[in-house]
Amino acid sequence: MRPKDLMTRIFLDGGDPEETREIIRFLGFLDGQTTNPTLISKNPRARSHLERGEKFTKEEILDFYRETVREIHELIPEGSISVEVYGDLLTFAEEMLRQAKEMFSWIPNAHIKFPTSREGLKAAEQAVKNGLRVNLTLCFTQEQAAAVYAATRGAKRGDVYVSPFIGRLDDKGENGMDLISHILKMYQKGDGHVMVLTASVRKIDHLLFALKLGSDIITLPFNVLKEWCERGLPMPRVDYVYHPGDFKNIPFKEIDLTENWQAYDIRHALTDKGMERFSADWNGLIKA
Ligand code: E4P
Repeated sequence: MRPKDLMTRIFLDGGDPEETREIIRFLGFLDGQTTNPTLISKNPRARSHLERGEKFTKEEILDFYRETVREIHELIPEGSISVEVYGDLLTFAEEMLRQAKEMFSWIPNAHIKFPTSREGLKAAEQAVKNGLRVNLTLCFTQEQAAAVYAATRGAKRGDVYVSPFIGRLDDKGENGMDLISHILKMYQKGDGHVMVLTASVRKIDHLLFALKLGSDIITLPFNVLKEWCERGLPMPRVDYVYHPGDFKNIPFKEIDLTENWQAYDIRHALTDKGMERFSADWNGLIKA
């Protein structure tokens, strides 16, 4: 059952509807799900297809993604489901927007994920103007989050998510949780139209601290959600302290949210690396 004091929405981070089913059984609730090309490539049905030596055509893999997303939608008809466009470093905004419009029509509760890159933001800006809900993913800096805010100005609260990736910053020795805390603080000066979706969660302490900070949404992989259930869905106590260990602190920056999004420095090596990895995993499913 949902803890009484849980205000944050809890999503599953995964591409297998079986996991969605199981987590709903464990938790008794689920507010949404995030998918990405890597998670879809790990789907057991996709894996067994590949193990039989059969790759997908471009049409077949999109059909497979659509069916998977529809199956998840039936399990959480009220929840938001994030579906990610294909975007490598050469994909233009126009192409991302074309995919986004198609994916948005798959289910009634989609948020379309775009990378927080120049082309991704350009596409997201247009998507919002076209009435699509969006989720800007692969966010690693406060500047990128400021650009998301600026590119989607005017959108309704709930229609725009930004997904800062904690685990991948931790992996390179930086305290990813600082980024969540800084974006939430920076957004306090805004109009509240962007919701912070804590992503790339690796452990229960990421969850507990994100809950304590008041992240709007947290997406968690199956194993972390299961562990949270097994521990009885603990919530952070008032005296909860997060220990970042040896990770380097990320300093807070005062950033003005009133600029045009193009004015912010949105480059980050991990965004490029993430786009390369997502597209390589997706291409690995497709016949050459
Ligand atoms: C969710 O939206 C993200 O794609 C996901 O949390 C990334 O997690 P990872 O860094 O463990 O791949």
